Amino acid sequence: LLLNGPNLNLLGTREPAVYGATTLADVEARCRDTAQRLGFTLEALQSNHEGALIDALHAAGRRFQAGELAGVVFNPGAFTHTSVALFDAISGVKPMPVIEVHISNVHAREAFRHHSYVSPAAAGIVVGFGVDGYRLAIEGLAART
Ligand code: DQA
Repeated sequence: LLLNGPNLNLLGTREPAVYGATTLADVEARCRDTAQRLGFTLEALQSNHEGALIDALHAAGRRFQAGELAGVVFNPGAFTHTSVALFDAISGVKPMPVIEVHISNVHAREAFRHHSYVSPAAAGIVVGFGVDGYRLAIEGLAART
């Protein structure tokens, strides 16, 4: 499952100097191809709502338990830096692996982006590779399943 959080629906037009010119639809199509190449089927969901992301993680956790899902590649957007609830949700569906992705190098940006509530619960983190980070995360997730 490819999960994208708030404002990532604006990819392509949102601060292109930071996030690039690729749209979310293009990212999802590329991820679908990557997953297929590795023998997986990609599902994609984007939401601007914290609760919807939590619900999606819970549903993914149930499907992981049923052996129907390999894990989640997740860009939590700004909720990365604010959400204890996302940390709890990811902790609550362990051992399902969640790979945290950030398009930009958050550590080279404003101080408020340096802390992630999600990272301590993540199985792996891909930061600063642009939208190619999603491919790297899928490959990393596939390699550990
Ligand atoms: C982001 C980084 C976050 O700090 C920011 O709020 C985003 C996108 C990234 O992909 O680089 O929305 O997660």
